[in-house]
Amino acid sequence: MIDTPAFQYHSGELNCENVSIMDIISTIGTPFYLYSAARLEQNYQRFSAAFATLQPRIFYSVKANTNLSILHLLKEKGCGFDIVSGGELFRTLNAGASPAGIVFAGVGKMQAELEFAVKSRIGWFNIESICEAERLNSVAEQSGDVVKVALRLRPDVKAGGHPYLVTGHASSKFGMCPDEGISLIKRAADFPYLELGGVHIHIGSQLADPAATLAAIDVVLDFIATSGLGQLTKTRGKVPLLNIGGGFPVPYHDGVAVTSIEDFAASIISRLQPMAANLNFAIEPGRFLTADIGALILSVQYKKEVDGHCVLVVDGGINALLRPALYDAYHRVLPLTSPKSNEEQLLTSIVGPICESSDVLARNRILPCLKPGDCIAILDTGAYGFTMASNYNSQPRPAEVLVEGKTFRLIRRRETYNDLVADES
Ligand code: LLP
Repeated sequence: MIDTPAFQYHSGELNCENVSIMDIISTIGTPFYLYSAARLEQNYQRFSAAFATLQPRIFYSVKANTNLSILHLLKEKGCGFDIVSGGELFRTLNAGASPAGIVFAGVGKMQAELEFAVKSRIGWFNIESICEAERLNSVAEQSGDVVKVALRLRPDVKAGGHPYLVTGHASSKFGMCPDEGISLIKRAADFPYLELGGVHIHIGSQLADPAATLAAIDVVLDFIATSGLGQLTKTRGKVPLLNIGGGFPVPYHDGVAVTSIEDFAASIISRLQPMAANLNFAIEPGRFLTADIGALILSVQYKKEVDGHCVLVVDGGINALLRPALYDAYHRVLPLTSPKSNEEQLLTSIVGPICESSDVLARNRILPCLKPGDCIAILDTGAYGFTMASNYNSQPRPAEVLVEGKTFRLIRRRETYNDLVADES
């Protein structure tokens, strides 16, 4: 399997695939997110190969990176899409996705969003409460369509890379407890416009290992067997869908390995393969597909000394990349020119321009002595980077650029001051 990182030094200059990042900067300036199409392709192939035995339907979790060009590339590979809002549905359809390959998850789907999704005839709804079943049933009734539904369960397992990324425990706001699922299935006749056909879980993100997923799968398999869901689907001549969600980890730190996707998949396959004749499978990777395809490219504005160490103020902060402040997330930082072996290295922190003390992108890194005008790449920011950016402090959001082999193109222009006020009076 080809494993070529998106960002590597060539002749001392940091490239994205075969394009010098300095060349892109001289054309469009900073700040911008930069993505590699080849790395996306590799990640998708690697992920599909790892799970191939189960032949799952892959639904890319759009929230990780919603750019139309990224969605389009994935669509071309036959990937489906996991969405959580009407806005994500709109984007996904705009990228040319087939509605049948879309699954709508989310704890708070609003009436208008459900109407849009039913009207668009998407493939699946993952519903999270009996209350939602009632609303979806009435929306589907109005359009005269029967919609396919999976129940999102809260299996009461705890896993995830940060407390904010844990979603499968008993007190989580997500999903329904198995008892609520059983009540819903007992009341199936009350919901004639819902085809109750599957179970969905998503227990957390950046999962350390497959143990919690395996525990959750056990809860779900038991649920399918004992809740009446298996029976219900059989009467329709079908088998239930088991959607195991996303959460597959990526290595953010140099030299700190995470469970490989192949090992993750092997554990899940060994648990589910014996059931393969009686279940269909689905899976929703987000971060795994897009995190390492992207870097945030920033330029140093100011350099100062704080507490005896170097602080670089760059032209994007928590407005451009929220993860370090929100999750204490670590992202590697690379200078655009590779450090020489005899070059002086400094203890350096990278901070943004935002008026918040939390606006620190990287703390206490060893970096060459950078100065105003030099640029840096913040790695592994292709997932949950741009999608969590904001206009805080009235900062326009960064541009997005896609590299394909030797060429690059702007796939979202940088916002302007006019964009900031365009919708206001
Ligand atoms: N499926 C569902 C229902 C989800 O809620 C999510 C992510 C995924 C799939 C994809 O998870 P992934 O494979 O990307 O771990 N903003 C956070 C991550 C929040 C994830 C929310 N749900 C971050 O920056 O780490």
